[in-house]
Amino acid sequence: MKQKMWDGRFEESSSELLEEFNASIFFDNKLFKEDIKGSIAHAKMLSSVGIITDEEYEAIKKGLHQVLGEIESGEFKFDISQEDIHMAVEGRLTEIIGEAGKKLHTARSRNDQVATDFRLYCQNQNQNLRALIKNLISAIVSIAKENTSTLVPGMTHLQHAQPISFAFHMLAYAAMFKRDYERLESSFERNNYSPLGSAALAGTPHPIDRDMTARELGFFAPTINAMDSTSDRDFALEMLFNISVLFTHISRLSEELILWSSYEFKWITMSDKFSTGSSIMPQKKNPDVAELLRGKTGRVYGNLMGLLTVMKGLPLAYNKDMQEDKEGVFDSVETASASLVILTEMLKSMKIEKENMLRACEIGHLTATDLADYLVKKGVPFRETHHISGRAVALAEKKGVDLSKLSLEELKGIDNRIDEGALEVLKHINSMNARRSYGGTSEESVRAQIAYFEEFLRS
Ligand code: ARG
Repeated sequence: MKQKMWDGRFEESSSELLEEFNASIFFDNKLFKEDIKGSIAHAKMLSSVGIITDEEYEAIKKGLHQVLGEIESGEFKFDISQEDIHMAVEGRLTEIIGEAGKKLHTARSRNDQVATDFRLYCQNQNQNLRALIKNLISAIVSIAKENTSTLVPGMTHLQHAQPISFAFHMLAYAAMFKRDYERLESSFERNNYSPLGSAALAGTPHPIDRDMTARELGFFAPTINAMDSTSDRDFALEMLFNISVLFTHISRLSEELILWSSYEFKWITMSDKFSTGSSIMPQKKNPDVAELLRGKTGRVYGNLMGLLTVMKGLPLAYNKDMQEDKEGVFDSVETASASLVILTEMLKSMKIEKENMLRACEIGHLTATDLADYLVKKGVPFRETHHISGRAVALAEKKGVDLSKLSLEELKGIDNRIDEGALEVLKHINSMNARRSYGGTSEESVRAQIAYFEEFLRS
């Protein structure tokens, strides 16, 4: 009979079907660094409280470094019989150092071990993603700085609404991505507690020092309840949720980039470096990257739903169901990292077609609200001015011109309280710069927004 770490009570060997079904080694091997780091911290603590000797600790540490090297160099071959990364590392360690290796698992269980490894992984990736989000925001701010007076139609319902600057539009995304950054940051703070030493579910009779392992691993402190710590996957759910919201924003931006690079808009030209061609239509230049970013949102949402469903209704504490927690998180994290990098580069390399944006402002009577507001300043009630301006729009439509192109006589014909001041108000650039309210689209307000994001990027 083959020997397993847990088969003392078993009379028959495992079925090969079970081995294959049960094993997580082929995906949880991604956690090898965290697993080894956690084991070194645990061994150090065991020696400091006198559960193992200093010599045993030194042997374990040395052996674990060797295992790390073997895995990193690819020399170590993962095998189904090792079941998971925890047993693979411990098994190899014992092969290398003998007896001392068998003491490493004192006062711990794979239940607190996997909770620790996976939490460390999420915490590391949390920091990586935040750095990538900052790079993305920085690229957006650079575009904004070049375009504070680049006029473009602001839309609601995908219909021309009011003139805004392209900088203002892009900074809306900077605001979204800053919140994504902050959501990750707050998850990091909330979850930066060490489950190690919770053991199987109930703690351990050994005189361990959980504060010490928590400190060693960069956590603020140990978690408060061992049962919760071995069954909690909120940290992973938060990761999946945070990435899902991030992708809501990435997909909205992608959708706009796709629209803007169509012939109907032509507000931007994607660099050839980030475009693809068609195998049949020689003229095509497709925004595949933006489409893929939009599409990847599906799998990211799916991963969140997947883990929420795994965790729902599980009795305390650890259940094997929870082994299903990892692949979705790995997938979302890797999807997010790759997506943030390529989105940032794509934005940096795209060309802003300012003339086309300006031309787009000439349709849709973008300054109709301004005409109404102008009359309000003359004392006419807004509900009335809304109608007057509406009639001016109807006249412009009939003449086939933009509202801003009507003559003073034509405007006066609609309402004789209108004077030459209206002609200024109807100019798109004036309309944009009139919106000086905090958070508005005027050049002045947008400069303040740029300063705000630059301050955030420096922090
Ligand atoms: N491979 C397992 C997982 O990822 C590790 C924990 C197993 N614990 C146990 N008691 N079977 O969830």
